[in-house]
Amino acid sequence: MSVERAAELLSRARRGVALTGAGVSAESGIPTFRGEGGLWTRYDPVKVSSIDSFMADPVSYWQVSKDRGRVALAAKPNPGHTALAALEEAGHLVAIVTQNTDGLHQDSGARRVIELHGSGREVQCLECQDRLSFEMPPRCRSCGGALLKPTVVLFGEPMPVEAVTAAHDLAVQADVMLVVGTSLVVYPAAEIPLVAVRAGAPMIVINAEPTPFDRFAEVVINGRSGEVLPEILALIGE
Ligand code: APR
Repeated sequence: MSVERAAELLSRARRGVALTGAGVSAESGIPTFRGEGGLWTRYDPVKVSSIDSFMADPVSYWQVSKDRGRVALAAKPNPGHTALAALEEAGHLVAIVTQNTDGLHQDSGARRVIELHGSGREVQCLECQDRLSFEMPPRCRSCGGALLKPTVVLFGEPMPVEAVTAAHDLAVQADVMLVVGTSLVVYPAAEIPLVAVRAGAPMIVINAEPTPFDRFAEVVINGRSGEVLPEILALIGE
C-alpha cells in the first residue's frame, strides 16, 4: 500500500523535491552518522567535526576524515541514487537537496543537486581561500598554509547561504516532498521538509528507522532506499 501510494504521488509530481541524508549512501558502503555503526558512535562530533576543533588541531581532523574520505572516494552510486536521478530525468523531481558530501548524487547523473553541507571532494585553504582538487596529505599549494579543509560544513560553521536559500525556495513550491535516508535531527536541513508540508505538499519518508517527522508524512516506508526507490520507479513505469 505505501509503495503504491508513494508511486501515485510522485507520478503526478512536477515540482517534487527530495531531501537526502547519509542513509541513501549506506548501501554504497559509507557509514551513516547516527544509529548502528554510525560515525558518531565512534567519535565525538564536537571533537572531530567542529570548526573550533579543526582550527585548534587540523591534523586530528584529517586523521578521522582521511579514513572516511578514502571510503567515500571509492564508493559508487547505488540503485537508490540512480532511481532519484531517474525521477528527476522524468520530470517528477526538480532538485535533490542533500546533506551528503560524497558527490554520489552527481555521479549517478542527477543534474540539480544542492549540497547543504558542502562537499568532501573539494578542499579550501582557510588562509588564502584557494580551492584545490582533493589530495592527501593536503597542503595549500598557493600559500603553503596548513589549514586546508574540505568545503564540508563543520559544526559551528555558517551554512552556505545560497544552498539554504535555494532549498527553502524549492520547498515552498514543492508539490511532493520526498525524504530519504536521514534522521532529521540536524538543522536547518531538517526544517526543509516542514517548509514544504506547511506549504501544502504531501510528504513521503523513506528511512530505515522512524523519524521525528513521520507524523507529518502522508506515506512512511521503513526500508532500505536502494530497494524501495527502484520499486517505486518501477511502479511509476519510468
Ligand atoms: N536506507 C534508508 N535509510 C537508511 C539506510 C538505508 N539503506 N541506512 C540507514 N538509514 C537511515 C538510518 O535509520 C538513519 O535514520 O538513515 C538515517 C541516517 O541518519 P544520520 O546518520 O543521522 O545521517 P543524516 O541524517 O544525514 O545526518 C545529518 O548530521 O552529522 C551531521 O553533517 C552530518 O549531514 C550530516 C547530518
